[in-house]
Formats: sequence, C-alpha cells, structure tokens
Amino acid sequence: MKPGIMEFPKGFLWGAATASYQVEGAVNQGGRGKTVWDTFCDRKGKINNNDSGERACDHYNRWKEDIKIMKELKLKSYRFSIAWSRIFPDGEGSVNQEGVDFYNNLIDGLIEAGIKPAITLFHWDLPQSLQDKYGGWKSRRVSELFADYARFCGKTYGDRVKMWFTINEISCFTTMAHDTDYHAPGGKEEITISNRTIHNALLGHGLAVRALREVCAKDSKIGIVENLVPPWPVIDTEENIKAQQQAFYDMNQVKLFPLMTGKYDEKVYSHQRVRKTAPEYTQEDMEIISTPIDFLAYNIYQGPAIRAAENEFGWELVNTPKGHPKTNMDWAITPKCIYWAIMNTKHFFGDIPVYIAENGMAAQDKEEENGEILDLDRMEYMRAHLEMCGKSIQDGGNLKGYFAWSLMDNFEWTKGYSKRFGLVRVNYRTMERTIKLSGEYYRKIIQDNGV
Ligand code: BGC
Repeated sequence: MKPGIMEFPKGFLWGAATASYQVEGAVNQGGRGKTVWDTFCDRKGKINNNDSGERACDHYNRWKEDIKIMKELKLKSYRFSIAWSRIFPDGEGSVNQEGVDFYNNLIDGLIEAGIKPAITLFHWDLPQSLQDKYGGWKSRRVSELFADYARFCGKTYGDRVKMWFTINEISCFTTMAHDTDYHAPGGKEEITISNRTIHNALLGHGLAVRALREVCAKDSKIGIVENLVPPWPVIDTEENIKAQQQAFYDMNQVKLFPLMTGKYDEKVYSHQRVRKTAPEYTQEDMEIISTPIDFLAYNIYQGPAIRAAENEFGWELVNTPKGHPKTNMDWAITPKCIYWAIMNTKHFFGDIPVYIAENGMAAQDKEEENGEILDLDRMEYMRAHLEMCGKSIQDGGNLKGYFAWSLMDNFEWTKGYSKRFGLVRVNYRTMERTIKLSGEYYRKIIQDNGV
C-alpha cells in the first residue's frame, strides 16, 4: 500500500481519447472525402467564431510528435477515431489507400511505443456523399454501409487492434443533428425523423459488431460508447438510491436499454404523442441491435441529482443551484454520477465490463509567463472522478479502464476552439504542444496505478 493512494486493480487501462474531426485537420490532404462536419462548419454562424476542423491540431501531420507526448504521459492506451471518409472518400465504393496507410502508420507507431490502440469507428464525421445520396442516418442503407466500413477496418487493422468502439454518442448526430440543428448535418425535422436516425444508428452498431466479429481476432473486445444520463442519489438513503435507479432506467430507455435488452420500453413509446413517433422496426432489428457486446463504454461529464418523490415516477430532480461549481462549459461538477453509473450498470446489466471512454473538463487555462499551464481545476476534477471510479471498484463495480478527454485541446464542435479540454495545451498559432499540470498529474496516477 502506498500512503494516500487508492490503488486500482492490476492491468487497469489508463488512456486518453481524441476524435478525428477534432484533432486531425488536413481536411483536404491525403485523399480524404468531405464530411457533414466540413459542410456544417461552412454555414455562417453555426460555430463559435466560424471556426472549423480544417486545421484543428494538425494531428494528421504531427502524429509522431503526439505519440512521443503520449509516451511521456505513460499512457497505456490511446482512443482515437477513424475518419470514415479517409478510408472511403464517398462512404462506399473505392478505397483511399493513403487514408488506410495513415491509420496503419499510427497504429504501428502506437504499438512500437507500447501504447494500445483503441479505435472508435464513428465519431460523427459522416461522409458527405452518404448524406447527399441517402439522407445519412435517415436511411437504413447507411447502417448497412457502416457495417461494410467496419468490416473493412476490422480486416485491415484487426490483427493489431484489440479494442473497438463502434459508435460514439448516438444522440449527438441524431437528435442534436436532426431535431435541434445544433450538430451536423443540421436541421429541424419532425421527431419521427430524428427517432428514425436513432434506430438506424443502433442498427448500424449491431451490424458493425457482427461484421467485426467475422473478421477480427477472437481476443478482440467490441463495444459502444454511450453518453448515458448518469443520475446519482442526492443523499445516499435507501429511498434515494432506489429512486435514482428508477431514474437511470427511465432516462436511458431510448438507447442504452434497447442495446442491452433488445426492447424499446412501452412506457417511452406508449405516451400518446410519442406513440406516433416511435420508429417502425421488426423483431429482427431488435436482435441485431442487441447483438452481445464485450463491454459498455460511457462518456461522463456530469449527471443529475435525484431524490425520492411521491409522484408518478417515484423520483424527482434536485436542481443545481446558482453558484454551484461548474466547468467552463457551464456543466455542473458532480463526481458521484460516475460512481453510480458504474453501480447502476451492475444493478441492471450484471458484470459486463465498463470503460469510461471520456471524462474531463473544459477549463480557462491561463498560460504563465514561463509557458506553464497550472490547471489545478482540471486536476481536481480528475481526482474527484477517479476517486469515485476507485470506490466503485471497491464496491464491486466492473470498471476496467478510464480514458481522459482529451489528450490535447481540440476543436470543440459548435464551441470551436474557445473551450479547452486537453491534458496537453495546443498553441493554435504555432501548433506547439505543452503538457499541462493535469497531464503531469495523470502521469503520476498511471505510474502509481492509483489516485
Ligand atoms: C464528445 C467529444 C466532446 C466532449 C466534450 C463528448 O460529447 O464525444 O467529442 O468533445 O464530449 O464536449
């Protein structure tokens, strides 16, 4: 035992994550096809400062330097996403060898550095041609094409990559993209349509799991990344714990539960208004959607506080008061939610392994005169959340790994470059990288295998 340190199980996977459109840049380089995010960023006023991922962190050209930094941080794993349109510029049809080689080199470089590559196949950057030709995720054809792309990636990289995330955060390119016009491809369409995109994304996931299983090595681990809603009991009384379990169930009916149980809950789709909008599906669809996976991965940033209530639900929200500690995204800091997400998973789905695929905070990051970034706030956010992760393991939760979001500052979608999440600072003028205090802290955690 090391004094003051809560140790994690041997082999715990410590990593950091990024996503293609947020870090790669080089959008017109290497034969990459256009994506819906390129198009969305061209719409004036959609992105803060009219920024785009055109240059981002130039990771496409600087990946060797970035691997060196990962090595300095002692990362055990790097979670990155493949840009579908670098492999298939049109989303289907002919393969772009330059794009294939880019990821081949990245994977080999990581392995050489002793860092396990972990691939996300889809982190929102749909090839524009699939949007134009089929209406994107509105069409089942795209779910099938996603599985073809997954099969190709599995065949090409599956000899070296043992960890696969099919899709990252379904709501961010379905509801948020087709209903609220906040994300690409954008639009304010009927709820029936955004519900259909969710269904097709779930279907795409299931088909991709099956495709990967056909071609990847037997010891490969395949799962999905969900941005579940992670409630937590405001005070850990028996009543509140039960109430937040009910809230976990109610709040995650649309994606997480269908994935795990193969059922849409009647309660969600039986409400008069909603019934009309429920996606049409077959029993076979539901079997595909719930194809067994090896783990669940969650992106967790914040969660709602819950207490028991005598109403039709049995629970109510305890609102975050004004002045409550928040991140630079204005998200409340609520570390207990990560503990309860892990424990609720065990409660509902048994011992399926869990990974935190993203956790971290946007901070204001001031550069000191000597260039240091003393981001105590991000460091403390990480400590608090990791302590809760450690406690969940002590209490029987099956948490196997943690990926910090993010390895480096990057293009934060509609917020452009105004929000920084990195353990490593990126100077967007010079592209220089500097490890922040939080990065040094994370390295120590990895070395100690504990927090
Ligand atoms: C996404 C990331 C994003 C982060 C912070 C997650 O929703 O997967 O791409 O940068 O949260 O907003």
